Amino acid sequence: MSSIESICCIGAGYVGGPTMAMIAKQCPHIKVHVVDLNQARIDAWNSDELPIYEPGLDEVVREARGRNLTFSTEVDAAIHAADMVFISVNTPTKTFGIGAGRAANLEHIEKCARQIAKVSSGHKIVVEKSTLPVRTAQAVKRILANASTASFDVLSNPEFLAEGTAIQDLLKPDRVLIGGESKEAIASLVDIYASWVPKERILTTNLWSSELSKLTANAFLAQRVSSINAISALCEATGADIDEVARAIGTDSRIGPKFLKASVGFGGSCFQKDILNLVYLCEHFGLNEVADYWNQVVSINDYQKSRFSKQIVRTLFNTVSDKKICMLGWAFKKDTNDTRESAAIYVCRDLLMERARVEVYDPQVSEQQIRADLEYIMRDENGELSSYKQSLIDNVSVVEDPYQAADEAHAIAVMTEWDEFQNLDYSRVHKNMSQPAFVFDGRNILNHKQLAEIGFEVHSIGRTSLSPNT
Ligand code: UDX
Ligand code: UDX
Repeated sequence: MSSIESICCIGAGYVGGPTMAMIAKQCPHIKVHVVDLNQARIDAWNSDELPIYEPGLDEVVREARGRNLTFSTEVDAAIHAADMVFISVNTPTKTFGIGAGRAANLEHIEKCARQIAKVSSGHKIVVEKSTLPVRTAQAVKRILANASTASFDVLSNPEFLAEGTAIQDLLKPDRVLIGGESKEAIASLVDIYASWVPKERILTTNLWSSELSKLTANAFLAQRVSSINAISALCEATGADIDEVARAIGTDSRIGPKFLKASVGFGGSCFQKDILNLVYLCEHFGLNEVADYWNQVVSINDYQKSRFSKQIVRTLFNTVSDKKICMLGWAFKKDTNDTRESAAIYVCRDLLMERARVEVYDPQVSEQQIRADLEYIMRDENGELSSYKQSLIDNVSVVEDPYQAADEAHAIAVMTEWDEFQNLDYSRVHKNMSQPAFVFDGRNILNHKQLAEIGFEVHSIGRTSLSPNT
């Protein structure tokens, strides 16, 4: 086994950045060089304002940066100097051509593989960190085989960290998964993780199992959320309480208590993308029943988001036109500034289409990001934003104070489970709202009984609504 002295990671995103920072922290003897095409992102990694918000990340970066962790846009030089190259670029759902809307767009991965082939010499280990369709490694290997002066081993090492808890997940992972063909190459990567992860938690498999396990893990996790969300609709219809049902089933050790929190719908860069990818893969192999089965997880999620928007409109006397709705939270979950596929984007779009005015407060997401998300989702299939849709987006304002967001609002919609939303002074909020005042708790995090006592009409996920009891 050759011991690794220098690592390069292509892609300084939510996955590449924190993962490499942790490797650099735990392995001071290894030089870790993170590269990205995006100069602004690299500048941010080199500054005091990191490009992503992640609890605990600042300390880890501060400890290693300048010592054995560097960030730059010098992709070729970093690849050339490395014994091991991680590919951690984004693999979004294809928006065009064959497989549009489902297949993963592997353009970036392929470009990286070609770049590695072009500038490498000697022997290198290439590690797929990005989530990829099964058998992508085959394509990567074929491209690398064309290099004139270098040889390669390819490994798959999918990331299981969740945003908001990335540092803890990296520090104490349930498992590290490494798939590959060469025992030597696998051993080199095992050796790196073994600096801080107990050996029994480092699983090794063949390449294809590793690639498929990542998709399957995300599909199972998303399926649990869709399952509990499907039952939440039934709870609302019958008078059962979804949190009680979740507790009752979660105490069965075979089911377990985690990932049973009903919500306005899952978001994030991975769940939907990976399931659609799985669906596409099944269809490719003629497994249409299997494809339909997994597709339903995404359909229920879409249903949950649209059910929430419709409930707001219906409850506000069937019209939200020119009414102000206060949205608390925009990120797809708490403790992150990531908004990719956030339910808030979809619910806001639905409300804007009903001509509502929306005022958003999120403690970490910038106004620029919120506007970019809305402009993206409001575009037509040719990528154009009509002046009508732009005028609807102009009905959104973004503020830095939750009380201001709620001022004179007809309703509050809780979109993200930020802890601080539980501690607002809801009597003050209620006094300054249009009456009757409504709360739609898309995360079931507020004290609903107390809100009803203050005078709110409260609607939540999977629970009977509460009328004001003042
Ligand atoms: C990405 C993938 O989306 C996910 O499937 C995978 O599991 C891990 O990598 P993430 O890190 O969240 O997740 O993506 P993102 O934050 O978009 O970062 C990717 C970075 O790669 C961007 O900063 C982008 O500028 C960079 N990039 C992309 C390159 O440097 N070169 C390229 O050719 C393409
Ligand atoms: C996920 C996987 O958990 C992680 O292993 C993988 O590497 C990347 O994808 P992430 O998307 O960062 O991580 O967050 P996660 O905590 O899984 O939440 C995803 C979405 O599901 C969020 O919108 C969250 O609010 C929602 N969710 C999660 C629920 O609605 N209910 C739950 O019980 C759990």
